[in-house]
Amino acid sequence: NWSMENFIEMEVEKVREAVGERKVLCALSGGVDSSVVAALIHKAIGDQLICMFIDHGLLRKNEADSVMETFGEGFDMNVIKIDAQERFLSKLAGVKDPEQKRKIIGNEFIYVFEEESAKLTDVDFLAQGTLYTDIIESGTDTAQTIKSHHNVGGLPENMKLDLIEPLNTLFKDEVREVGTELGLPEEIVWRQPFPGPGLGIRVLGEITEDKLEIVRESDAILREEIKKAGLDREIWQYFTALPDMRSVGVMGDARTYDYTVGIRAVTSIDGMTSDWARIPYDVLEIISTRIVNEVKDVNRVVYDITSKPPSTIEWE
Ligand code: XMP
Repeated sequence: NWSMENFIEMEVEKVREAVGERKVLCALSGGVDSSVVAALIHKAIGDQLICMFIDHGLLRKNEADSVMETFGEGFDMNVIKIDAQERFLSKLAGVKDPEQKRKIIGNEFIYVFEEESAKLTDVDFLAQGTLYTDIIESGTDTAQTIKSHHNVGGLPENMKLDLIEPLNTLFKDEVREVGTELGLPEEIVWRQPFPGPGLGIRVLGEITEDKLEIVRESDAILREEIKKAGLDREIWQYFTALPDMRSVGVMGDARTYDYTVGIRAVTSIDGMTSDWARIPYDVLEIISTRIVNEVKDVNRVVYDITSKPPSTIEWE
């Protein structure tokens, strides 16, 4: 793709010129935007780029390992992994309210990032995957915040680093093209949106290790079957959520009293509105059977058939 090659070449040149011999820090999440930024800057300045990947313990199954594999090993980037699971989970203990959970996770993320980056004394720049649409959206003044997101301006205010935002003229589809051109794997370039607070807002109510495990395992099964059925590109987002409830079931000739897992799958253009995805019944059956058989403490699976509005995509 000529225009994207051209874009990459120009941005690489700009980054080299701005940075010179100095160092750039990038908070890598494994999402499309931060991955493309990291790959682009790495192409420009190689080892002068330091990526920081914070594992807050609210990631999906195998996510942390796969980020480290792709970037640390595959791209041979300088990636520092921060294991902050315990720190996040202890701050979240006993907290039930979705917005409070979001706030705690967002703030903790900033504290960890600040603390860890303060240890890197020779860094002068901070690279961020801000897109054109992020700038537009955060500029609009909605009368009421429905859910607080932490995409723009979510990073430390008192850090004395110059910002580098090479993607801030691009739309999402262009970012994907740039990513493909830079050789990022398909799983990353076509990754579905994943909220910053991660599984923290998919375990409804209080977050515990056991509940996170149920969401992680059921979500992995769902993703595997959606991919197998060839539906992963047409569905905008698909995941499982764990409502804070138990119900009665029967296993063999014994009564069970276990958790219900909710499947959420939506089609959308931009996440602002969405419709529920018409996953074929036979695929849903496989998913439901596997979840109940393979995930401990689950005896029921339900499918969310509401659009947005009046629902939202996430359950919290
Ligand atoms: P909702 O649930 O509001 O979600 O329909 C719309 C899109 O935004 C994502 N989302 C979030 N992303 N921090 C994020 O970075 C958040 O707190 C958050 N809440 C929802 C959601 O996954 C969907 O893509």
